[in-house]
Amino acid sequence: MSKRENDSKRGRNGRAAQLKLAVLISGSGTNLQALIDACAEPDYPARISLVIANKDDAGGLARAAKVNIATQIIRHKDFAEREAFDQALSDALEAADIDLICLAGFMRVLGATFVEHWKDRLINIHPALLPSFKGLHTHQRALEAGVRIAGCTVHYVRADVDVGPIIAQAAVPVLPGDNEDNLAARVLKQEHRLYPLAVELIARGLVHVENGRVRIEEADSRAEDAALINPPPFG
Ligand code: GRF
Repeated sequence: MSKRENDSKRGRNGRAAQLKLAVLISGSGTNLQALIDACAEPDYPARISLVIANKDDAGGLARAAKVNIATQIIRHKDFAEREAFDQALSDALEAADIDLICLAGFMRVLGATFVEHWKDRLINIHPALLPSFKGLHTHQRALEAGVRIAGCTVHYVRADVDVGPIIAQAAVPVLPGDNEDNLAARVLKQEHRLYPLAVELIARGLVHVENGRVRIEEADSRAEDAALINPPPFG
């Protein structure tokens, strides 16, 4: 959504309307929780209208219910074809008039028709610095590759898995003795900062997809002197 489009969606109090989010989950939903917490801030420009899980035991459902966010379970197992599952998701999202879908540990691959329909209104968080380490077991593969810096990425979704214009990334050091679990925990902590930031940038109309890449108004120059160097320089 452009800044102008969002500015034109103003509520009765004259403030820009809040972006209506849906969060799709399969698991514990700690990223969902980070978005719930961000949306609880009075000035945050988005709110969560709907949480959808593809399985009954997704722990994040309880997080949503606790703060009275509408939840739906759309079980992939109830559908013989992926397209029918995707269509059921789309119908629920349309019915809730969703502006932006946030995948947050949603463990189903969405088909090309769904992705095209929701193009640039569908984002994902991935626990690696894309385009490195797409797919599963990212932390184990990062450790095996011997990288010194790991991280996470929020990106627009395209038909290929873990591909699409990159909106924001956070980097963390890989430390001696790291295993998959503590590296995952270090990255996850930053995911919880990064996802609300990416959503806020979109909701403020500052994110533009141009020629398959993201341009962010205002923010880029602030990063000019930032660096994470690992191992850290002496002194
Ligand atoms: C996160 O690591 C996210 O990057 C990945 O799945 C995990 C979901 O964790 N896509 P949670 O359910 O948000 O705790």
